[in-house]
Amino acid sequence: MIHKIRKYGDPVLRKECDRVEKIDDEILELLDDMVETMHDANGIGLAAPQIGVNKKIFVLDLGDGHIRKVINPEFLEFSDETEENEEGCLSVPGIYKKVKRSSKVKIKYMNEKWEEVTEEAEGLLSRALQHENDHLDAVLFVDKIAPVAKRIVSSKLQKLKKETLKELG
Ligand code: NI
Repeated sequence: MIHKIRKYGDPVLRKECDRVEKIDDEILELLDDMVETMHDANGIGLAAPQIGVNKKIFVLDLGDGHIRKVINPEFLEFSDETEENEEGCLSVPGIYKKVKRSSKVKIKYMNEKWEEVTEEAEGLLSRALQHENDHLDAVLFVDKIAPVAKRIVSSKLQKLKKETLKELG
């Protein structure tokens, strides 16, 4: 089922997420819904709070034939070396700005079969893992952009927030 994507200004994006205790039909359905919703929106990643669920889950599809279903992620390592690249977010439509992040990361998570997976990542995968994990900590990429860029998009963000709050009623 395709869900509505929550937008900037929705309080659900600013709540900490709970760990998942076990895999069950509810979680499997949620994972399927998240993948379907991400594909429908032409996104490469989607975190559970973006469809209104405050659980530590995100999905990624970087177009490499491997759809990652990530539960209870934990970073084990961040490289000191950083890279700056443009990011966007399905919850912050129309805004694309550069964000500085660690070039390489090592992450541990549970997959949809409840197996522990450890991955080392660089490039787009590293960036996407950090962006999606931030959602689970109630952080959005626009929180991390340079002050100058933030000033440039601040009126756009205010407008987006106003529209979201109006829609929520
Ligand atoms: Ni995002």
